[in-house]
Amino acid sequence: MGSIRLDYSNCMSDFAGEHGIDLQELQALYPKLTSAYSIIQQKKAKGMLGFMELPYKTEEAKKISSFAKKERTKFDDFVVIGIGGSALGNIAVQTALNHLNWNLLSKKQRKNCPRLFVPDNVDPELIKGLLDVLNLKKVVFNIISKSGTTAECLANFFILKNALIKKVGVKNWQKHVIISTDEKKGYLRELANKEGIASFVIPANVGGRFSVLSPVGLISAAYSGLNIEKLLQGAKDMDERCGQDITTNPAAIYAAIQYLMYQKGKKINVMMPYCQALKDVSDWFRQLWAESLGKRTNIKNEVVNIGPTPVKALGATDQHSQVQLYIEGSYDKVITFLSVEKYRSNVVIPSTKEKHYLEKHTLNELIKCEEEATRVALTKQMRPNCTITIPEVNEHTIGQIFYMLELATAYIGELFEINAFDQPGVELGKVLTYGLMGRSGFEKEKKEIEEFLAKKKESTYAV
Ligand code: PA5
Repeated sequence: MGSIRLDYSNCMSDFAGEHGIDLQELQALYPKLTSAYSIIQQKKAKGMLGFMELPYKTEEAKKISSFAKKERTKFDDFVVIGIGGSALGNIAVQTALNHLNWNLLSKKQRKNCPRLFVPDNVDPELIKGLLDVLNLKKVVFNIISKSGTTAECLANFFILKNALIKKVGVKNWQKHVIISTDEKKGYLRELANKEGIASFVIPANVGGRFSVLSPVGLISAAYSGLNIEKLLQGAKDMDERCGQDITTNPAAIYAAIQYLMYQKGKKINVMMPYCQALKDVSDWFRQLWAESLGKRTNIKNEVVNIGPTPVKALGATDQHSQVQLYIEGSYDKVITFLSVEKYRSNVVIPSTKEKHYLEKHTLNELIKCEEEATRVALTKQMRPNCTITIPEVNEHTIGQIFYMLELATAYIGELFEINAFDQPGVELGKVLTYGLMGRSGFEKEKKEIEEFLAKKKESTYAV
């Protein structure tokens, strides 16, 4: 089983010149990095960082696997209803590990596993469009919400539940629902208990965006025929590599490089996989990095706003869209390539009548050459970049990537001296929505927003 590797040479001044990091600078950060490592270990020991316990929950993974094996052939479609941390990991796992046109395969080709839909929005056209294509008698809905109160999740659930009841009846809809939520609290927990709905627990100490390796991400993966024990094994192997010697700890080094880059004004972290299957891993990472690190904090009695901005890109597609900016635009970015050594398909470019330089090469060679060319072009222009190499995309390597990036987020949060595990900004948006939607207990928020809107009306700058 292969291990992923991090090469950060092109972030060092040897290659990125004045825009890179000197070895002495990196070494000077080691004491702070070691202390970040220790703080995270202490938080883990206090039971505050549940995501670090997930790789070891193999018994639970076995239970989910056997539940899914028993149930999944009964349904044509599996629909995840959740948002943010309760959806992005599910999408990333599916795109990375299953056929890229999974929902278009025949049931036999899917080995009797259901199609997967993750409509993570409350756009009426999205939900109506989904209802148009589902045969509700053959659907199972996984309602995922840690809090059990998120408006988007509950609204979609109520609509789909209503449609289900109409189709299968008031006594049967429960068999079409699996709830993943807190063990004790929240509306969804109460409903699961009251209606006898199959349910799984999202541990209270696992934050939404750190929950992909909990039942949040594992149930849909198991229903889609994936080996979730191997996902956890990959995370566990990464956990073992991320030890006290921070110089050999890939998550700590990734955090250190990104932290030093931020200090040098490279505040944008572009994640660019050269692999279609990994495109949603960058989307998942975008949430992890943004929600964890975009924080207002107090350092030495001064308010400081921290915020490395994650951007997702895709090679080779975005060579024709973004790379011009990365190579000649402002020096405010660091690129993280996700590089795959062995693609799971090999496609030869056929011969043509008139000789062509592309013939008899493979798409595998072409995408690799494009990746190398972009890396060299960036480095020649002193644009810092690092590469995470993945021997092959599979459950074991994806488990490693998730865990490494989660841990790196935890470490860099300590370097920035912020709390990487809360999300007051998201909560603010949530309570203002509750106010606007007339939820009782949120009258103050409703008034606040109405006053703001009235003021805006008086002085509208719009054309
Ligand atoms: O990372 C987070 O905490 C958030 O993005 C949540 O995952 C998101 O807001 C959904 O919350 P919940 O799972 O409580 O419905």
